[in-house]
Amino acid sequence: MVQREENGIAYVSSVWPLEEARPTLICIHGAGGSHVLWQGQVEGLAGKVNTVAVDLPGHGKSEGNGMRSIEDYARVVAEFTRAIHAPLPVPCGLSMGGAIVQQLLLDHPDVCEAGILIGTGARLRVMPVILKTIEQNFDGYIDSFLSFAASEKTDPERLRAISEATARGRPEVALDDFKACDAFDVMERLPSIQAPVLVITSEEDKLTPPKYGAFLEEKIPTASRTHIQDAGHLVPAEKPDEVNQAILDFLAGKPNWTYTR
Ligand code: COA
Repeated sequence: MVQREENGIAYVSSVWPLEEARPTLICIHGAGGSHVLWQGQVEGLAGKVNTVAVDLPGHGKSEGNGMRSIEDYARVVAEFTRAIHAPLPVPCGLSMGGAIVQQLLLDHPDVCEAGILIGTGARLRVMPVILKTIEQNFDGYIDSFLSFAASEKTDPERLRAISEATARGRPEVALDDFKACDAFDVMERLPSIQAPVLVITSEEDKLTPPKYGAFLEEKIPTASRTHIQDAGHLVPAEKPDEVNQAILDFLAGKPNWTYTR
């Protein structure tokens, strides 16, 4: 695993240089998050696909401030993907990251051989209590983070690094992220997506319930869906093996790509 930086975006990559003719997952975290979310994909998919996990601007090790709209984040991720010359790019996002992937599929199709939407929706209204808690009591938000973001069945130890990384984030960046989610709505545009799309939902996701994923599956003509049991919103970290298998099965549908399943 290598740590690199391009256009002010810090990222980890399973391999460098990226291997040609292999799909490149561009993994995008959620509101107030970081690349740490994707450790199970960067490590678990190594040797099979290129896996690049970014810190969005203002997050993790990346410079600058966060952004105020999903469109702005999508533009930055598209520029980043072109700048690293990612072979066969497949943006893959959780929650706000999934909103960014939808925006990429709609507005920057040149960086989307396919797209992977995990724990997300075409509209992401945010409970006012989340915005209020981040604004007034960030420590309280961090303390309650796992109770609303993960399944009770998941060992908290498995999520400790994610919790700690979230706590190191800046409250104003997390707040702007959730406001950007609250304003996001591409429900009417989904039928125009043309690249193949995998939707992953999880049984115990309280933040983006499976109903949101069912809507994506129904409205995106090219979508298929995998539903994962006994997991919450942080499913890439809660059930990395199941998520990785779903991704490999999906990518296997592109027969001209060479990689080992
Ligand atoms: N996909 C499919 N259906 C959706 C949807 C999506 N992305 N977003 C909303 N809907 C549905 C809702 O389920 C609801 O359907 P119903 O009338 O049959 O119950 C309807 O559209 C309207 O919902 P919404 O726009 O969300 O408004 P609301 O005023 O009913 O609820 C919240 C507002 C914030 C309470 C609600 O959106 C919520 O609980 N959100 C999830 C929790 C959260 O904060 N997530 C953070 C995401 S980053």
